[in-house]
Amino acid sequence: MELLVLCYQEFLVLRTFTFKNKRKYPYALVTYPKLVAKAFSFRYFYSQIQKYPMNKTENQMLVIFGASGDLTARKLVPSLFNLFLAKQLPKHFVVLGTSRSDMDDAEFRNRVVLESKYLKEDFKDVKADDVKAFSELFFYQDLGGSYDTDYKPLRKRVGELNDSKATEGNIMYYLSTPPTLYEAIAKNLADAGLSTQNNGWKRLIVEKPFGYSLETAKSLNHGLQQYFKEQQIYRIDHYLGKETVQNLLVTRFANSIFEPLWNRNYINHVEITNAESVGVEKRGGYYDSSGALRDMFQNHLLQIVSLIVMEPPISAGAEDIRNEKVKALKSLRIMRDDAILHENTIRAQYIASDIDGEKVKGYREEGGVDENSLTETYAAIKFFVDNWRWKDVPFYVRTAKRMPTKVTEVVIHFKSPHHQIFKDTGMHNKDNKLIIRIQPDEGILVKFGVKVPGQGFKVERANLDFYYSSLTETRVMKAYERLLLDAMQGDATLYARADEVEAAWEFVDPILDYWKNGKDVRMYGYAAGVWGPENADELIDGIGFWRNPGTNLTDDPGFCVIC
Ligand code: BG6
Repeated sequence: MELLVLCYQEFLVLRTFTFKNKRKYPYALVTYPKLVAKAFSFRYFYSQIQKYPMNKTENQMLVIFGASGDLTARKLVPSLFNLFLAKQLPKHFVVLGTSRSDMDDAEFRNRVVLESKYLKEDFKDVKADDVKAFSELFFYQDLGGSYDTDYKPLRKRVGELNDSKATEGNIMYYLSTPPTLYEAIAKNLADAGLSTQNNGWKRLIVEKPFGYSLETAKSLNHGLQQYFKEQQIYRIDHYLGKETVQNLLVTRFANSIFEPLWNRNYINHVEITNAESVGVEKRGGYYDSSGALRDMFQNHLLQIVSLIVMEPPISAGAEDIRNEKVKALKSLRIMRDDAILHENTIRAQYIASDIDGEKVKGYREEGGVDENSLTETYAAIKFFVDNWRWKDVPFYVRTAKRMPTKVTEVVIHFKSPHHQIFKDTGMHNKDNKLIIRIQPDEGILVKFGVKVPGQGFKVERANLDFYYSSLTETRVMKAYERLLLDAMQGDATLYARADEVEAAWEFVDPILDYWKNGKDVRMYGYAAGVWGPENADELIDGIGFWRNPGTNLTDDPGFCVIC
């Protein structure tokens, strides 16, 4: 009913707008159906949903562990600021930062809000009063020398703030600390009585990496579940907060034109590319003990895979969606045999090169990286999914640093029409493709054949596309912003459940093990600025090359064997 009223209101607004802009839109007045169509368009509903969020955000306190770290200033606080400007924060809301740094409230506010380089641009168009009001939401509590300590002083501060700011005992704990501290923090919170839900809910958000292997992930899950119930634990994967990743679900299940084709009868193969142009930057220490497979593939990319592979959920509810995602992850064919792993996986490291006359460092020359490191910065995996829908359809997934450009995209390659009437028209290997561009230029593109005007039947490829940037009046929420708001509202749909994370590790573990201990395992080299080692093309059956959205940035040799 409310929506109908809104539709009517919006219709009136549109009508007024049309009257005022008669000269600009002369036909709008007479094309009544067009107006109605506009009022009911996707854009219309989308903007309404943004203006009128469906869920209510209850009063609450956000307690950030690791509040003096980079993630808090770079991602969390700017996301909160956007929510503040969009009036999405609840009426009574405070942020209590905590870490081992000795700071008071004022110093914390200066650091993460008032003097933050990450907010400078955002503040330019905002009234000073708003900035001040936002900064006053922030408080700080020093934990002393260690996170593994008695949380009584923290409890006292939480209690005082809860009383003075009326946050109703609802608390969201955000662990932005190294994962080795997660269990200790959860235990100390529980020991201090800060995890009980008899006076308001308590939620725990944990950052990746969630485990280092199947065994460590299981033990971490077990550790956390001793102190918090699974329903209280929110495992963040920021890729799930990206609009286009969520749009995978909508593309598949809100349209009747794709789902009937979404299976082995029509899809030839699926290709996913996640490329970054940057190297490991200042995170060499962390990255060298992680590598591309743990850093990107086990979490972000397998999450995307699960959304492509999953069966239609019963409803859009968190548990229904997550049940299907787990099933999807469990149906990935685990590769255990050395020969199969050898044939279907490729790892590589970027080596020094020249890009536009500038020398770019190789991975082993980066700060914090072992000079004999065998950690991969490129991983390409071919695999199959053992279920009815996907039997024999190969999936090709690659991720890498120091590629020619930053791009993440999913390409669904459809099969050729089974009876080819126009096969002699010069159109070669131009099968239909659905390209889901996750970033940048978020959007979706269908490549299909059209007739070239003129005699005969010459066929060319044309694009049918949609880009989020064309929704000019709509602000697309950033990933962290969306995920924070969801957790604040108790919606775990876009958070990974324990069994999802474990199923993903189950698939990844044997690959890591083979790369570490297997015979004849190669580490290839690729020049920084090219699309990975050339032999990775051999993975792609029948076609013999990946879809590279861009050209190499350097002429340096694209391939060598490091060991
Ligand atoms: C993080 C990885 O999870 O994702 C980083 O640890 C990577 O290594 C980053 O750079 C990429 O995120 P995005 O959103 O820029 O694609």
